[in-house]
Amino acid sequence: MKTKIDLTIVPPTFNEKDNVGPLLSAIGRVMKNKKINYEVLFVDDSTDETPEVIKKEIKARKDMNIGMIHRPKKRRTGLATAFIEGFEKARGEYVCCIDSDLQHPPEVIPRLYKKAIDDEAEIVFGSRYMKGGSAEGLGTFKTFYGIYRRLVSLGVKYFSQILFIPTRQTSDPMGGLFIFKKTILKGAKLSPVGFKISVEVLMRTKHNKVSEIPYKFLKRENDDSKATLNQGLEFFKHMWNIFTTVPEAGRFLKFCIVGGSGVFVNLGVLYGLVEFYDVGKNMAWATAVIISIFTNYFLNSLFTYSDKKSATRNESMRRIVIYYLISFFTMFFNFLVYRSMINFGFYYIIGAFAGIVAAMVMNFVLVTKLVWKLRIR
Ligand code: GDD
Ligand code: MN
Repeated sequence: MKTKIDLTIVPPTFNEKDNVGPLLSAIGRVMKNKKINYEVLFVDDSTDETPEVIKKEIKARKDMNIGMIHRPKKRRTGLATAFIEGFEKARGEYVCCIDSDLQHPPEVIPRLYKKAIDDEAEIVFGSRYMKGGSAEGLGTFKTFYGIYRRLVSLGVKYFSQILFIPTRQTSDPMGGLFIFKKTILKGAKLSPVGFKISVEVLMRTKHNKVSEIPYKFLKRENDDSKATLNQGLEFFKHMWNIFTTVPEAGRFLKFCIVGGSGVFVNLGVLYGLVEFYDVGKNMAWATAVIISIFTNYFLNSLFTYSDKKSATRNESMRRIVIYYLISFFTMFFNFLVYRSMINFGFYYIIGAFAGIVAAMVMNFVLVTKLVWKLRIR
């Protein structure tokens, strides 16, 4: 009978010939006596002799369960696909992603596993940004390059956390040192774009509890980081990919974009009716409102709530009616905010702006809950 594998450790390698040996020694050391049945699965895209080094290590370390996927040139399509291939071949109940250049200290691996078991968490992140953690491997605030890398790292973190609510489940969604239960990949379609596989796992899998533990991100001993400007562009491509393909990602922003389109529809219809059809200004205004609410509803169902299509004609009708009621109500609410701001002595343009923002948020909350029946997250 085959014994069950608890954990598959997946270090991706790109020209890491000097780091493979030390990494395996460290893993062997920290996993000793931990009673975790683990395997190590390299996913290698190297152009140097790293694969030969790995093969030698596999032969030399008979006591460890080590495997390698060495991808032929045509399959070397970046870090994301490397991880995806690793996940597919991983036999462990849990999978741990870790850099192979020792910037992620291997002693974190058994701690991540223990935390997952103790908390019954399906994902556990190593975090540089919680108490006890450190990002010193990015460089210190004393050098220009250090300041630059730190700012980029924090900028990217907050960028994703503002836009993508599931990435708020950890203080370090971009760190790349984490463990997850393999079953959460069932039914999830990971995208082959980008370097931040952790964000993919957070955004595209259904999972319960997410936990985190602190760790110190170390300086790179051999060679340099492979982070380039190109990676920065890839990152935004990746975020865009998530935004456009994960319905829940940036839902409020999608709602605001649709709302913005409604303004143009509204003004366009108003102008057209008054100028070309000689319709009275009140009548034209009311028509413009009614039409723009409809286009908003239509675009929202297509774009903002694409995961919640109406099942029947009846359901569509009911949704449209509720949508109109909510829109009229929030218009009234908008006016109330506007008037009270003026009464409080604010400049009327500020009042109008506050009214728009308040109404937009209220509209979003009501529409999400009552029309598309989703939890607000
Ligand atoms: N198979 C494969 N294919 N591995 C790759 C590739 C690739 O195309 N590109 C990079 N790697 C491997 C490297 O060999 C290394 O083990 C790991 O992926 C991370 O690459 P580094 O070049 O060391 O990245 P870094 O130090 O800039 O980035 C680290 O810090 C980020 C946070 O600031 C990584 O840990 C990221 O995961 C982390 O998000
Ligand atoms: Mn590195």
